[in-house]
Amino acid sequence: MHRLEVKRQMGKGDIAAVAELLEVATAADHHRPLGEHQWLDLVQGGRKGFAGLVAWEPGHDHPVGYAQVTRGSGSWALEFVVDPHHRGDSTVALDLVREALQVVGRQGGGHVHLWVPKPGPEHDRIAAELGLVRGRELYQMRRPLPIEGDLLADAGLDTRPFVPGQDERRWLDVNNRAFSWHPEQGGWDLDTIVQREAEAWFDPEGFLLHERDGRLAGFCWTKVHSDEDPPVGEIYVIAVDPDFKGLGLGRALVLAGLNWLGARGLRIGMLYVDATNEPAVGLYKAIGFEVDHSDRAYVADVAPVE
Ligand SMILES: CC(C)(COP(=O)(O)OP(=O)(O)OC[C@H]1O[C@@H](n2cnc3c(N)ncnc32)[C@H](O)[C@@H]1OP(=O)(O)O)[C@@H](O)C(=O)NCCC(=O)NCCS
Repeated sequence: MHRLEVKRQMGKGDIAAVAELLEVATAADHHRPLGEHQWLDLVQGGRKGFAGLVAWEPGHDHPVGYAQVTRGSGSWALEFVVDPHHRGDSTVALDLVREALQVVGRQGGGHVHLWVPKPGPEHDRIAAELGLVRGRELYQMRRPLPIEGDLLADAGLDTRPFVPGQDERRWLDVNNRAFSWHPEQGGWDLDTIVQREAEAWFDPEGFLLHERDGRLAGFCWTKVHSDEDPPVGEIYVIAVDPDFKGLGLGRALVLAGLNWLGARGLRIGMLYVDATNEPAVGLYKAIGFEVDHSDRAYVADVAPVE
């Protein structure tokens, strides 16, 4: 019989215990159970609406499961993980997700995305039992680095590095207009970008800006995952100002980013993209990216609970 703790704020000890659980699960599953936004929410104290749900089992001095709720722009994100040794008991996952949905309900309800990396039939079962249905699907795409031949010849777009303390406002303007439709990447504010700049991986040299007619026309922000073996070079965020769409800048910016990563010795290029983002998926396939796996959101509209 397990017991759930619902925490609106996580203490240092809670964070350490959950981090250990996430590590064990990452080693077993070969992927991280929490997305980057959720991980930052956990370690940096959480935004408005944050809740961490920790599952304990008698006789075990570590959490056997964890779920996290965060309020995004217009919807809620929910993720969960169960210790690999406790997955035989599906009630841990069911209780975590059920209680997390209640937390959302108690905070006014709304649209919820339950994100599952590399989903399997058991996730379909849990979702169905709790009234969630399949929603967005995210591809993780990969291609080898460095780029060569014709692609390399097209990678010479004029770019300059992002300058912290100077470029945030104009970058936010382009990002938020290009991603106005996007639940996680749209609606960023100064805090969101400053939070990213404080991350150990942040390197302004790999955050490439392209200017045209005195305006920021597009950017390619890369992120090096040096803790992975072998290290992976991610096209972290790429966008073109809607006023400059269809001019070949998107392709040129991705190539410039890949070239930057390849020149730093990375041998794997990676990115995430919504499966339905046809312009972007088409562009990535045309330059040699292939789908490695997908992550899935199960969705529900949660009614407010008094
Ligand atoms: C995706 C994006 C970066 C493409 O930038 P762009 O400068 O407009 O694209 P390009 O002009 O370089 O075109 C690249 C290729 O995509 C194709 N393409 C561009 N827009 C398209 C559309 N709406 N539908 C289908 N194909 C499209 C082009 O035909 C071109 O193919 P080609 O090289 O075979 O001619 C841009 O649309 C954007 O910023 N979108 C919003 C942010 C986003 O979705 N980022 C990616 C998230 S992972």
